[in-house]
Amino acid sequence: MPRPLRIAPSILASDFSKLAEEVRAIEAAGADWIHLDVMDGHFVPVISFGPEVVKALRPITRKTLDVHLMIAPVDPHLEAFAKAGADIITVHVEAGPHLHRSLQAIRALGKKAGVTMNPATPISMIEHVIDIVDLVLVMSVNPGYGGQKFIPESEEKLRRVAALVGDRPIDIEIDGGITADNAARVTRAGANAMVAGTAVFKGGPSAYRANIEAIRNAAAQARGDVA
Ligand code: DX5
Ligand code: ZN
Repeated sequence: MPRPLRIAPSILASDFSKLAEEVRAIEAAGADWIHLDVMDGHFVPVISFGPEVVKALRPITRKTLDVHLMIAPVDPHLEAFAKAGADIITVHVEAGPHLHRSLQAIRALGKKAGVTMNPATPISMIEHVIDIVDLVLVMSVNPGYGGQKFIPESEEKLRRVAALVGDRPIDIEIDGGITADNAARVTRAGANAMVAGTAVFKGGPSAYRANIEAIRNAAAQARGDVA
């Protein structure tokens, strides 16, 4: 069973002064998941938003809320994000010493557990938690900012993650610098979920549909989903 293709626009690149409209617009334009980048100004240099924003967006969309936590410590905040309505909660291996506990806690809260690592972190860090995750996110930029350039080594990392995951029902997501131009490459390397901020939100609402379709078509073609 191939893992379904998912396009997950990151609202980090949206207009924060009209977040609800932006979320409605990307949903209407064909987004599968809504990717929410939570940054604390400590684990990563900048601050974005917290659980109150997730909670405010929950009634706006029925799409999967894919919450990427770039915060440390992370454990004290998991319940707040679960209660806010996150569907997938992804934590960094670098965020604390008790990754296994964090992932168990996410599942105990009834949510899908995701794990991710910075570009410099080897995937051996996730070997011993692979059976308790629902998603592996490969960071293809250093977390903290949208609009950065895709790090080419991420492709090899995806291949290794795909080998580790094997036929387990685990989504493989790629995040950072994804565009219609590299979507095929990362798909061939094993990614089935594409986060994209800049590449989706460029050009404003009238461009969202075409932007999402360009990424989806490139990925679908690489998967052999379309003729
Ligand atoms: C980076 C975030 C990404 C980012 C993606 O720290 O995790 O989700 O917003 O943005 P683009 O697609 O612009 O690289
Ligand atoms: Zn992200």
